[in-house]
Amino acid sequence: MCILFSFLYFMIKQRAINILKKNWKDGFTVPSKNLYPYQWKWDSGFIAIGLAHFDITKAKKEISTLLDAQWENGFIPHIIFHNKSNTYFPGSDFHHSELHPKASKKYKSTGMTQPPVLGFVLKELYRIAKDKQDILEFIKNKINQVFINHEYFYNNRDPHNEGLIYIYHNWESGTDNSPIWDDIFATMDSPIFSFERRDTDLIDPSQRPSKREYDHYLHLIEIAKKYNYNDEKIIEFSPFLVQDPLFNSMLIKSNQSLIDLYTLIGNNQEKINQLKKWQENSIKTFNAKLYNEELKAYVHYDLRNDKQLAYISSSSFSPIFAGIPNQERAQSLVNTMLEKFGGENNYLCASFDPTHKKYNPVKYWRGPVWINLNWMLYNGLLQYGFDELANRIKKDSIDLVEKVGFYEYFDPRKEIYKEDSKGYGGNNFSWTAALIIDLLNEELK
Ligand code: DGY
Repeated sequence: MCILFSFLYFMIKQRAINILKKNWKDGFTVPSKNLYPYQWKWDSGFIAIGLAHFDITKAKKEISTLLDAQWENGFIPHIIFHNKSNTYFPGSDFHHSELHPKASKKYKSTGMTQPPVLGFVLKELYRIAKDKQDILEFIKNKINQVFINHEYFYNNRDPHNEGLIYIYHNWESGTDNSPIWDDIFATMDSPIFSFERRDTDLIDPSQRPSKREYDHYLHLIEIAKKYNYNDEKIIEFSPFLVQDPLFNSMLIKSNQSLIDLYTLIGNNQEKINQLKKWQENSIKTFNAKLYNEELKAYVHYDLRNDKQLAYISSSSFSPIFAGIPNQERAQSLVNTMLEKFGGENNYLCASFDPTHKKYNPVKYWRGPVWINLNWMLYNGLLQYGFDELANRIKKDSIDLVEKVGFYEYFDPRKEIYKEDSKGYGGNNFSWTAALIIDLLNEELK
């Protein structure tokens, strides 16, 4: 590699490290100062991958802190309110996780979860750590907590024993305001809430969800609270019950990582057998139920109204990360991605179908590029031998950060970038920094 590129990459990595150092809060990392001032579950997983490249002690601490907030029933919440902050709504006094009898007595949290990253994150830590014995010791101490978390999902979030987990809130998906949820919100008669939002004091409202969307978000939480976050009642009464391909892909990827790690540790045949059983059922149903032949993509399934939600988003390609499609279907997904998302004027990979009328390249999960999805797609595409496309996604991710900085999300349209362009959402965003460090790792070897 030319010396100029090496220097450039080295500088990007240093900037990323500085962001993670600044966002570290004595035991965990905030996703973004002020905008997200607590610990978020899937953020923490991605952040630990970046931390592992320069401070394995902090990477381990990030995961330990998150797991410390696990509930007695194996559930891991989406936000842990470790500290006080007046820059985020809705806080702990809205969520009231203590309504659930098995909630953590030590930490306040939300009563919803986020995608199950921890299995594959533990495996990534093993890959990255220099001292394999030390990291394996850490994994041995933590892995059963992750197993119990998967057990919670299969026992409580899979009412038909299909191997597909439902989410009951759009915030559980991670893709918070995707247009995919619009159809479900249209079935709901959410009240008009009166509340003070904090995000739109910090970020241009055109980049954030609307007031009406927040009404729906709060309404769904109120329903769950009414039943003390009881899963059986949520299954019965929540208008939002979705089998999400991104969430389930991450669970399946994490199942496989747990199998690999338990095999490495040894003496865990029973757990491995259970994971294999879940895995077989999950992959079979996933392929049968979530693939849309017409769109040539995986889609979400609305379990409440018993129908596919026929939209293509970056989540549609995430099964590639988990090895779910066979080679032929993976090729179809790649064709769909190239055809709809991959025009030469676009950075990959938009979070929602750029050819669809609901596409908005500026607004949160309704179109912009996200580095965590790119990281998953990059790694998945390599596994199937789509090296050229994988490298394009990696290059696009690095280019975007180099052009505008470590933002939360980015406009996919190449033509809008000028000298003084910015990214969208929070700046100095932790998982963008963390995953760029990981993506640059090969480049800097
Ligand atoms: C938010 O507040 O937008 C968060 O992403 C919820 O997880």
